[in-house]
Amino acid sequence: MITEKNSEFKWDYAPAPEAKDHAKIKKQYDLFINGEWVKPSTKKYFDTISPSSEEKLSEVAEAGEKDVDLAVKAARNAYEKTWKKMPAKERGKYIFRIARMIQERSRELAVIESLNGGKPIRESRDFDIPTAANHFFYYGGWADKLEYAFPNRNPKSLGVAAQIIPWNFPLLMAAWKIAPALATGNTVVLKPAESTPLTALKLAEIIQDCDLPPGVVNIITGFGKTGAAMVNHPDVNKIAFTGSTDVGKLIQKSIAGSNKKLTLELGGKAANIVFDDAPINQAVEGIVNGIFFNQGHVCCAGSRLFVQEGVAAEVIQKLKARMETLIIGDPMDKNTDVGAINSKEQLLKINEYLKVGVKEGLELHQSSCSIPSKGFFCKPTLFIGAAQSHRVVQEEIFGPVLTIQTFRTIEEVIEKANNIPYGLSAGVWTDKGSKIFNLTSKMRAGVVWANTYNKFDPTSPFGGYKESGFGREGGLHGLMPYLTF
Ligand code: NAI
Ligand code: MG
Repeated sequence: MITEKNSEFKWDYAPAPEAKDHAKIKKQYDLFINGEWVKPSTKKYFDTISPSSEEKLSEVAEAGEKDVDLAVKAARNAYEKTWKKMPAKERGKYIFRIARMIQERSRELAVIESLNGGKPIRESRDFDIPTAANHFFYYGGWADKLEYAFPNRNPKSLGVAAQIIPWNFPLLMAAWKIAPALATGNTVVLKPAESTPLTALKLAEIIQDCDLPPGVVNIITGFGKTGAAMVNHPDVNKIAFTGSTDVGKLIQKSIAGSNKKLTLELGGKAANIVFDDAPINQAVEGIVNGIFFNQGHVCCAGSRLFVQEGVAAEVIQKLKARMETLIIGDPMDKNTDVGAINSKEQLLKINEYLKVGVKEGLELHQSSCSIPSKGFFCKPTLFIGAAQSHRVVQEEIFGPVLTIQTFRTIEEVIEKANNIPYGLSAGVWTDKGSKIFNLTSKMRAGVVWANTYNKFDPTSPFGGYKESGFGREGGLHGLMPYLTF
């Protein structure tokens, strides 16, 4: 077992970089509207970079209001003339085809995801891309079984869905949004985040190669303004948004009084709770997986650790030792555990919170590793001795930063864990099933993982309580926001 004392046993691995040459990235991308690549009416393009090297990868179009209108019109037309009328079984075939093509091109997609987003190739290769394909497979299966999913309820599609996604799981979020929308017979206008547009644009190529009828899926790029134009377009029936709580609230306000349906998947500040009877080594691994892998860029990241007093010293000591063995750096290296922060803005935000925590009087502990001089990187960080009132405990940081609080009783930890504006997810580590049931029934969180963390499956619904949003994605529940009964 690794302890802090013997953590010099950390092995040095020879670099194992994933080859990039098979990843085909065009110099410039237009907007994917009505099955074709269309120049933006704004005539504007913006650079998309690699956050680990700061190199430019490509430039993508900035869609203006006119382009949004064109995309919504294409989606409406495809809905009325083709998609709505098509037998559900046929719709399902297209969705399966997309799933298979994602699998076929998974290597290229993984490389592009890591280049553009900064996440370790191991993560995009083993999690993001296969899970994206699985979502299409799963929802492809539902397409002709909606009557069985909702017996005697006569489910009907809504029309045009405007979908806006963030940068932490670019292709996977696109799959979460597009797959259930298509399976339920809706058409789509999707906008990826401004910092990670490339895999969504690759998905547009796949959709083109699948011969999906033109206009069923439209993919447009741009900033918040483009997103706002999508939200405000009068001919949109449904909005699905994943991103910050601030923008979620803005969207809610701007559609008030309209007939548009909305699902929001917003921020989180998950409690990861370790009881004194927990398998400590596994728990430490789960803590690391919950907050440091994927750079803490996960809405359900286990960013608040609660440790029962009797094992706090042991957990913290083992956690520090494990942090010494994490490999931080080039996302393209297959050994890398912690890659690049997604953007300069996000790194600035995280660094700001590091200052806040220190100012609040917390003990800061970081992995002693060095980080690359180029690109945006942040060392895995602990804030020890945290309390409920600290800003670093209350606010979403969205980086590899873990606050540590201790507790004595189960009642105390439930109250503390729930005493936060968010409620997306939580983790519990204990040997006792009764404690797990007690906790899961009292946690105000959409997902509670027991003796594991960050496990995902297309069949399982995901979504939040309170300021983490509403509506569920995944599973049977994920079909409902796209249907009317
Ligand atoms: P954001 O919420 O601004 O961006 C998410 C998406 O919304 C992007 O596609 C963006 O272009 C779009 N958008 C921005 N303003 C919009 C508007 N007014 N109307 C419609 N769409 C709009 O998130 P940002 O600025 O990238 O990150 C800020 C913070 O949000 C992060 O530090 C993190 O705390 C949180 N966040 C949460 C995520 C989650 O998975 N729940 C994902 C990304 C960020
Ligand atoms: Mg923003």
